[in-house]
Amino acid sequence: MTPERWNPASRRRFLRRRGTPAFRAADAAERAVLATWLRELSPRTVLDVASGDGRLFDLWTRAGARVYALDSDPAMAAIARSRVADRGDVDVTVGAVPGRPLPAADLAVCVRLLPWLAEETADAVLAELVAAAPAVIVQVNVRDESPDARAISAGGRHRLEELGRLAAAADRCGAVTDRVERLGAASSSRLILLRRRESA
Ligand SMILES: C[S@@+](CC[C@H](N)C(=O)[O-])C[C@H]1O[C@@H](n2cnc3c(N)ncnc32)[C@H](O)[C@@H]1O
Repeated sequence: MTPERWNPASRRRFLRRRGTPAFRAADAAERAVLATWLRELSPRTVLDVASGDGRLFDLWTRAGARVYALDSDPAMAAIARSRVADRGDVDVTVGAVPGRPLPAADLAVCVRLLPWLAEETADAVLAELVAAAPAVIVQVNVRDESPDARAISAGGRHRLEELGRLAAAADRCGAVTDRVERLGAASSSRLILLRRRESA
């Protein structure tokens, strides 16, 4: 995906795809993993960075968490706000990462943003997420889908370079990779659970 290219056309495409079987399958796969991890983490507060139209808000609120959401696109933030207009436990702010103070939370989540960013920007966002929360969930697309990588992956080993790069970036900002879940057999998308090192 071309880095740094989220724009009104991307927004229209993202919202239009909502009803497609592929989108619904990806949504269901993400929700299944997130729901499992949420049960384990039981966060009282969730920071949802690049929250979009609030697609995942119901997961955080059903887990009993207070939600701080941030998105750079005012149109997406407006849809997100309308989704939770009757609730007092979700705050939606318009703003871009990196480079702004993020509120501290038990869990910081960033789904479907990092693949849009240049690597340096993505690493800076990661550092801000880890600084804000002891547990961080990010979504990445693994670019190395070569037959070799697939064969190794199918053998149960994570050799994929993107994951190694992410683990190294996480290590630099004081976090370790706790879980990696592939979102469907044919999908390049992964959800990663990172934990801040105790000493960090
Ligand atoms: C593909 S959508 C994903 C939305 C939501 N996380 C989801 O999974 O449904 C990407 C979102 O990232 C937002 N975004 C793009 N660049 C951003 C940045 N630098 N800081 C914060 N939000 C950003 C866009 O406005 C858009 O709502």
